[in-house]
Parts: sequence; C-alpha cells; structure tokens
Amino acid sequence: MNIQGATSDFKIQITKTESIEVLENLRIKYLGRKGLINSFIEELKKVEIPDRKILGPKINNLKKYIEEQIELKSKYILDKDEKEELIDITLPGKKYPKGSLHPTTIAIEEISNIFKKIGFIPVSYPEAEWEYFAFEALNMPKGHPARDDFETFFLDEAEDKKYGKIILTPHTSSGQNREMNRVKNPPIRMINIGKCYRPNWDSVHNPMFYQFEGLCIDKNINITNLKGTIDYFVQQFFSEHRKTRLRPFHFQFTEPSFEIDISCGICKGLGYLTGGETGKKTKCKVCKSGWLELGGAGMVHPNVLKKGGIDPNHFSGWAFGFGVERVYMMKEGLMLDDIRILYSGQIEFLNQF
Ligand code: FA5
Repeated sequence: MNIQGATSDFKIQITKTESIEVLENLRIKYLGRKGLINSFIEELKKVEIPDRKILGPKINNLKKYIEEQIELKSKYILDKDEKEELIDITLPGKKYPKGSLHPTTIAIEEISNIFKKIGFIPVSYPEAEWEYFAFEALNMPKGHPARDDFETFFLDEAEDKKYGKIILTPHTSSGQNREMNRVKNPPIRMINIGKCYRPNWDSVHNPMFYQFEGLCIDKNINITNLKGTIDYFVQQFFSEHRKTRLRPFHFQFTEPSFEIDISCGICKGLGYLTGGETGKKTKCKVCKSGWLELGGAGMVHPNVLKKGGIDPNHFSGWAFGFGVERVYMMKEGLMLDDIRILYSGQIEFLNQF
C-alpha cells in the first residue's frame, strides 16, 4: 500500500471506530512496531536521496495526522462512555401527564349501560340532519308553529325536495323515524345518544349539548311501561330514594305528552331546607319546588308511527328525550350550577373527574 492509499484507508476506519478496543487495533495497525508507518520508513531507506527528501516529510505528516486522530477519537469514546455511566437506570421512569374521560363521556357510558341492561340498543344518528327527520317525520309539517320550539341552526347547503334543508339536529327525536326504518318490524327498543344544537346560552343551556332518547314500540305498550322505565333509570343513575312524576305537557309528536320531573336530591323533594338551631325553613335554591325537570316524554303519536311504516292499530309506543348534561348536573354530590363549565376547557375543573 502507498501513502495515499494508507491515508484514505485510515480515514474510513477511524470514522467507523466506536470502541477503545477497535481503536487500539487501529493504532497497532498503523503506528505499531510492525505497523504501516514503520514499513514505509523501511521502504524509504531503499529509495534515492532526492526522492527520500520528498517522501520522508509525507510519511512524517501522515504519522502525525494518525496520532492526532487516534487521540481525538479516544477522548470522544471515553467521554461518551462516562456520560452513559451517569444514567442511573435504577431511578423511576418519567411520569407523563395522564388524561381522563370528559364528564359528559362518563355520563354517556353510564346511561348507555343502564339501558343496555334492560334490552335497549344504543344507536347514534346524524348530527347534521335533514329537516324531514327532525320535523316532518315527527308530525310537524313545514310552517307548523311547533317547529319554533326547537330553534335551529341551518347549514348553507342545497335544499332537497323531499327532505328539505340540512340542519344541526336540535333533538335526538330525529332518530325515531330513522330507527323505525332500520328495524322495520317492532319490537323496537332504542337508546339514541347524540349531540344536539340550539342557539341558547345560559347556566342551563349550551348551544351544543347531548340528549338521550328512549324509544319503545311493541304490542300493548302503555304509559305504565314508560313510568316504570324512567323510575328504573332514575334509581340506577341517581339513587333509589329519588322519585319521578309526569306533568302534562305538549309535544307535537307524542300524545299524550309529559314533562318528567325528578325529586330534588338537595331538599329530598320538600322544596325547602330546615337549618340552624331555630329550625327555620328556607326555600331550596336548587329546585325551589322539590322537583327538577328531566325532559320530555309521551306516547308516540299515531302519525309518527305511520310515517315510520308502523301500523298504529297493532302497535303502540312511548318515547322520551332528556339532556345528558342536565341529568348529570342533578347527580347527588356533584352540585354543578353552570352547564357551560363542562365545555369551557378548564383543566382544573376537568382534572376532578
Ligand atoms: C325535546 O327536545 C323533545 N325532543 C323531547 C321528547 C322526546 C319529547 C321524545 C317527547 C318524546 P325539550 O326541548 O324539552 O324536548 O328538550 C329536552 C331536554 O333537553 C331538556 O329538558 C334539557 O334537559 C335538554 N336541553 C334542551 N336544550 C338544551 C340546551 N340548549 N342545553 C342543554 N340541554 C338542553
């Protein structure tokens, strides 16, 4: 090998070297007693004096270069090994922040499991929905004033002749007709949990909120079954001491219709609290009357059954629609007094769940 070849060979090998052992072998190969540099010096003795004057300094320079490079590499390897030794592998690992489920997700899972236990099938239907399913299929034709009860966000999309405009669904009742189309022949036991939208904003209203809708259609279904199912839900979700009541109301898609109330968990349904040594009664600030509203319900209107292809002479059914956040806020011990905090993104609040 000549000087040039030895130089490039050394450069390749020193770059690859990662350990002191390999480095020592490299040193011996080039600088050792029987190494390449010494063999070049031996060869030098055989050449003519003028050539010797040219080759001599070249061999010397290569020797110096190799010595420097080996010194630098040795320092680098030792420093690296020292740093690695400094890592104490017995120390506990780094703890990364752990997320948790959002309270609404926790509530949805709980509600869904309660209804699954009694044979209800969880479904979910479109958030961006045709007007038809939210209104026409629910006995609210175009221009009907009852549509105003469900203030609605409209999407800027082309209108369909049959289905109308696309909206952000204002209630999960839009799933009723879709479920009748899906199942076709009763029995139907649906629990539809989904996002709804209405332009309302206060301590008990959020523009985006969740509802859960129960729908039960079969032969001989009556209000007693509705009351029994709601009582079962309330006792499972809240506690066995909570009571419910049906209050007459009007919905265009149920007949008869009700609002369902639950006895207040704070004043135990009394409407007042007895406090202090005097035993003076003060009005319950949470409910003011002993009852809190859960949501709407009723027997499915015959026109709604017909639109879903179900014969109202053979089948009957009930439906209810409650707000997920509202029922969650009524949980004993939770004492949430503003629905909007759930979607405020406040980590301090969410960390508590
Ligand atoms: C309805 O939406 C009917 N679809 C319920 C129904 C279903 C009646 C089936 C009969 C048969 P209502 O508008 O009352 O009804 O809403 C029901 C519940 O949704 C309310 O009681 C409340 O808990 C919740 N809710 C309504 N709007 C909001 C809002 N902006 N923010 C949070 N929760 C809301």
